[in-house]
Amino acid sequence: MTDPIENLKKEFENYIVPPSWKDRVWEIEDFRKFREDILKDRESLEKWWEKWANEIFWFKKWDKVLDDSNPPFYRWFIGGETNLAYLCADWQIEQGRKNKVAIIWEGEPVDEKGEPLEVRKITYYDLYRESNRIAYMLKEKLGVKKDEILTFYMPMIPELPFYMLAVQRLGAKHSIVFSGFSAEALAIRIMDAGARIVVTSDGVYRRGKVVPLKPIVDEAVKICEREGHKVEKVIVVKRAGNEISWYEDRDVWHDELLEDISGNVEVECVPLGSEDFSFILYTSGTTGRPKGAQHSVGGYAVHLYATMKMIWDIQDDDIYWCTADIGWITGHSYIVYGPLMTGATSIMYEGAPNYPDIGRWAAMIERYGVTIFYTAPTAIRMLMREPEETFTKYDLSTLRIVNSVGEPINPEAWNWYYKVFGHNDAVVTSTWWMTETGGIITGHFPGLGKITPLKPGTNGFPIPGINVAVFDDDGNPVEPGKRGYYVITNPWPGMLMTLFKDPERYIDVYFGKYKSKGWYYYTGDFAMLDPDGYVWVLGRADDILKVAGHRIGTAEVESALVSHSAVAEAACVGKSDEIKGEVPLIYVVLKKGYEPSDEMVSELKKHLRSTMGPVVASDALITFVDTLPKTRSGKIMRRLLRAVAEGKDLGDITTLESDVAVEEAKKAYEIVK
Ligand code: PRX
Repeated sequence: MTDPIENLKKEFENYIVPPSWKDRVWEIEDFRKFREDILKDRESLEKWWEKWANEIFWFKKWDKVLDDSNPPFYRWFIGGETNLAYLCADWQIEQGRKNKVAIIWEGEPVDEKGEPLEVRKITYYDLYRESNRIAYMLKEKLGVKKDEILTFYMPMIPELPFYMLAVQRLGAKHSIVFSGFSAEALAIRIMDAGARIVVTSDGVYRRGKVVPLKPIVDEAVKICEREGHKVEKVIVVKRAGNEISWYEDRDVWHDELLEDISGNVEVECVPLGSEDFSFILYTSGTTGRPKGAQHSVGGYAVHLYATMKMIWDIQDDDIYWCTADIGWITGHSYIVYGPLMTGATSIMYEGAPNYPDIGRWAAMIERYGVTIFYTAPTAIRMLMREPEETFTKYDLSTLRIVNSVGEPINPEAWNWYYKVFGHNDAVVTSTWWMTETGGIITGHFPGLGKITPLKPGTNGFPIPGINVAVFDDDGNPVEPGKRGYYVITNPWPGMLMTLFKDPERYIDVYFGKYKSKGWYYYTGDFAMLDPDGYVWVLGRADDILKVAGHRIGTAEVESALVSHSAVAEAACVGKSDEIKGEVPLIYVVLKKGYEPSDEMVSELKKHLRSTMGPVVASDALITFVDTLPKTRSGKIMRRLLRAVAEGKDLGDITTLESDVAVEEAKKAYEIVK
């Protein structure tokens, strides 16, 4: 296997300029100066962000751009008041986009010719009306007030963005839980947010089948009740028509709630200030407890607006498609809020990329004339296994910007994406960011009129106004071409405000590592810079996995397994995988009286599915050992388990309690690999 870092270094001088950009190349040196000019002092930095803030709607303008009086709790646009719902609907109508299509939604089911059976084109006016009706219903019938948090466990159907905008309108907040999560994971998130209302659907179409969602909510609500938290209402949107259990006092159909509410109701849009937040989104950390990233209103909006312009160069005639699920940050920011606040037409697709066949996405690109496309490297690597003709038989020539996100993209996948989807002429970059950053942090910037050359596999540059660095353990910058820890060195508008109900953890997780040096945001990633200053993110440096771009905490996987009665101990590490990037590799120590067997593997996988959900369970590799390699102080040495899986040198093992465990791990690995 070639060393991935050496593989990337080969690309440092592989400068690619799409032919249609040849007269609009930004010399790297000039671009560096442009960025440095913005970052040179506080005044120019504020002026830069203020320029973007001035382009969006505010009920009231700010008095101060950045308040850094209480680091690392930075606040942007102090004194300003705006609202995401207003930006995404009302303001678009005011700008003449009333009848413009805001969302093209395509359901998964197809007819015998492969044509979609359901397409909904939702205009900005529809969006306005539907979100107003829902806001009215939530307020008048269910008593939802400003600041209440509602949990959504929903598939990719238009009602999800309607509900998102409805709660924003009221100044309430949402906590969206990805619909692939288990009942237990959902329950933890409902309780942490203190939600008394959960919105879901009966089911969803996925790969030609109906996947029920409501039973998972039923189960989650039971868990909540057991723990003393009452969910008062479960609103159910009818989608797949599957049979579901019904709890009269608690469950209520979305359609029935809206039945007597006219299409013309309007609900006042609550102006929200800089100390207000817009939503929380739980994400995995290195401990078992998920973290609720709490996002702002004004700063978040400005960040999204600026990146929609700079990264996506969004224009009124674009057809924009981000294939993520709204349950993740990518969907929040770049299917819903970003595209809608810039008046774009955004595509939302319900189903799987390979239904009825692997050409589905390409067919959709042709069907709607998609110009901008955003997906994950795992998906690209999956498509790459097919002959190019599978995709090029469709007209993909409308695509002008095709980016990726979620995990590193290997140069081979980048080249394929550029050639097949980008027809050797689109801007292609790997936009690095995280749930916590709110919006995109790195990439290329066609929206600024010129681009620096592309390089296969790179993350490009930090967006103007944001700076990053690569540090060693002591906080000293690492030289170009060397691996180190990736940090963001200045506050940015989209950054999380804090972790929900846990400010200490916020300081500790993101600003603890280099505290003695100053306030540096620690990303948890490894990265390197190349001699031109391009960023190359190499993967996680901590106990978090990226499985098919999904972020999974190994501690969560371990505690899920230990909750099974047969399991004494478990250790989870990432094993690299050609398509998915990484898959969870789990070493299990069984309790006395239990024996390793294929049945036990299936049993534990079933348990993982019910505790963590299918994303983790379907790819997990489980193997058995009698002991885990530990330090003398009893900490599991995951580093050794990773080295075993990568066939690498074990490095320093002087702190290892006994080498028997390593030998065992090697044998156990042979069985699952
Ligand atoms: O490891 C990085 C990886 O995804 C992590 C963040 O995961 P999540 O919060 O789920 O957000 C994903 C989508 C915004 C990062 O710490 N990551 C994200 N984008 C990239 C990436 N790694 C390499 N290249 C990227 N473009």
